Amino acid sequence: MYNAFFGFTQSPFNMSPDPSFLFRSRQHEEALANLIYGVQSRKGVIVLAGEVGTGKTTMLECLRDFLNSQQIAFASLFNTRLTVEQFFEMLAYDFDLRCNRLSKSEVLLSLNHMLLERAAAGRTTVLIVDEAHNLEWDVLEEVRLLGNLENRRGKMLQIVLAGQQELDRKMDAPESRQLKQRIALRCTLRGLNLEESIAYVNSRMARAGLADQTVFPQELLEEIHQRSQGIPRLINAICDNLLLTAFALETKTATLPMLEEVSSDMRLEYPRRPAFHADSRFPETAIRG
Ligand SMILES: Nc1ncnc2c1ncn2[C@@H]1O[C@H](COP(=O)(O)OP(=O)(O)OP(=O)(O)O)[C@@H](O)[C@H]1O
Ligand SMILES: [Mg+2]
Repeated sequence: MYNAFFGFTQSPFNMSPDPSFLFRSRQHEEALANLIYGVQSRKGVIVLAGEVGTGKTTMLECLRDFLNSQQIAFASLFNTRLTVEQFFEMLAYDFDLRCNRLSKSEVLLSLNHMLLERAAAGRTTVLIVDEAHNLEWDVLEEVRLLGNLENRRGKMLQIVLAGQQELDRKMDAPESRQLKQRIALRCTLRGLNLEESIAYVNSRMARAGLADQTVFPQELLEEIHQRSQGIPRLINAICDNLLLTAFALETKTATLPMLEEVSSDMRLEYPRRPAFHADSRFPETAIRG
C-alpha cells in the first residue's frame, strides 16, 4: 500500500519467514550453522527452541534451501497436532513412500528400506518438525524411535525439532528422558539486542530498496527495540504499522507520537524504561560541593 510512496521495491516488513530477508544476527547465524552441521555430520536429533516470533521457522526455511541445494531428501511437518497414524501418513506422503500410507507398519517398513538404501549410498535424510512443542507424547515417542535407526556410520534419519519454549520444558519432562539423551545439538533463539534490532530494521529496509533509511530515526529505533523486546515479529508489526501511519499522514519520517498510537492500537505490553528520579542526595552534595 505504501511501497510506492516510500520507494520500496517490495514490502520491508512482511510477516512471512522469507530467507531472502534473512538478517544474520550472531544467534541466527549460529543456529543455522548448528542445524547444517548437525544434519551434515549425521548427529541425530537437533532441537531449536525459542520464544514466539524469534525466527525459528525462518531458520528452518533457510535449512530447507540448503537441503534442496545439496539434494538432501527431507520431510517437513508443520501441523503437529497429529495422531500417530496421521504422523506416519504425513511422513509417507512427504518421502513419497510407495506403500499403504494408512498402515503404520507398512510405512515403517518402507521408510526403513529407503533409509538403508540412502545410507548405503552415503546420502543423508532429514525429518524437520516445526511447532514440535505441540507433539503428543505418543508421537514424540515415535520420533524418538525413528531417531534410533542407525547403521555403523551414524544415524540414518536426522531429526530437527523446532518449537516454542514449552519444547525445552517437554524435553526436560521424565517422559522424554530417552529422547533427551539423544539430543546431539540444542540451540535457543532469544530477542535481539539493541544494536541487532537497529541493524535488523536497517537491513530489511535496505533489502526492500531503501539503503541508508531515514524513515526511522535512531531514537525511534531504540524505542522500537524497547517495546518489541527485540522480537523480530513484533519489530515487523510495529514498523509496518508505523510506515502505514506515516503514509497516511503523508510524511516520510516516523515519530514517537506515531509509535505511541501504534503501540496502543497493538495493545503492546512492554517494560517501561525506569522513570528518571532526581538523586535525593543531590541538594546536599551540591551544597557540600
Ligand atoms: N533473522 C531474521 N531475519 C529476517 N527476518 C526474521 C529473522 N528472524 C525472524 N524474522 C522475521 O520475524 C517474523 C517471525 O519469524 P518466524 O515466523 O520465523 O518466528 P518463529 O520463531 O517461527 O515464531 P513462532 O514461535 O510463532 O512459530 C517473520 O516475519 C520473519 O521474517
Ligand atoms: Mg514458527
